[in-house]
Amino acid sequence: MSKLSRLEGKVAIVTGAASGIGAETVKTFVENGAFVVIADINDELGLQVATSIGLDKVSYHHCDVRDEKQVEETVAFALEKYGTLDIMFSNAGITGPLSSILEFNLSEFDNTMAVNVRGSAATIKHAARVMVERKIRGSIICMASIAGSIAGSGGHDYVTSKHGLIGLVRSTCSELGAYGIRVNSISPSAIATPSACRGLNMEVSEVEAMVNDSANLKGIALKTTHVAETALFLASDESAYISGHNLVVDGGFSVINSLVPSITQ
Ligand SMILES: NC(=O)c1ccc[n+]([C@@H]2O[C@H](COP(=O)([O-])OP(=O)(O)OC[C@H]3O[C@@H](n4cnc5c(N)ncnc54)[C@H](O)[C@@H]3O)[C@@H](O)[C@H]2O)c1
Repeated sequence: MSKLSRLEGKVAIVTGAASGIGAETVKTFVENGAFVVIADINDELGLQVATSIGLDKVSYHHCDVRDEKQVEETVAFALEKYGTLDIMFSNAGITGPLSSILEFNLSEFDNTMAVNVRGSAATIKHAARVMVERKIRGSIICMASIAGSIAGSGGHDYVTSKHGLIGLVRSTCSELGAYGIRVNSISPSAIATPSACRGLNMEVSEVEAMVNDSANLKGIALKTTHVAETALFLASDESAYISGHNLVVDGGFSVINSLVPSITQ
């Protein structure tokens, strides 16, 4: 199969695509033949990404995923512009604060849940409505994290939200399978994107050094391209029978007990 045919003629929405993993995924989807709507709250950056990839294949639409109406309008925009919707990549997410449960700010918790879980619920709902109505065997992908399976890899807000998101993916996949719609999640370990650096309060080089130190798989650094390639796999027909899956992209980090010395050391 040629590289160009993997998403040839497909239409995708990628939320949170003005930056980081989302922006890289838009590029990868377009390189593989898709038309993509970037849905984000950062209009300046979102338009910049769309323009740099090519306005013949990419559009920008303002969308705060906390607002269901804006999500619905973004889906309607994709249909109006490209005529269909095959792929929804619910990628928008925030890291939330790194605070002790003793000083927990519940308003900040609500906001993290509103973006990371409620926002994904809105995107799944409106993408699925269109896919069911038009009998599209679509692919819905949500951006989770290794924080969705193990604690200590983010603040309480973030860890809780990503655990909840994996539950949402499993629950909705159980209903949408009847329509041929697949729902999966991706769980990367840390990548030095703007949000990761903000969340950890570190520079890019500090995040990369920290990740390299604790990584299981040596000699390679996790980059946004690795996650974009994973999204491409889940969006394409190559994953035609995969649904309800949480695809971990962490080089084995989350299945290793690093306190036990390796037999190779
Ligand atoms: N970078 C990492 O280490 C890492 C690891 C695992 C999972 N993730 C997840 O990957 C996703 C993307 O993160 P990233 O690292 O590329 O971050 P990023 O900050 O580079 O990009 C996040 C994008 O989401 C947008 N956004 C924020 N709130 C939004 C809202 N309410 N509505 C719409 N868009 C909104 C931002 O404007 C930004 O463009 C997030 O869900 C994050 O939790 C990141």
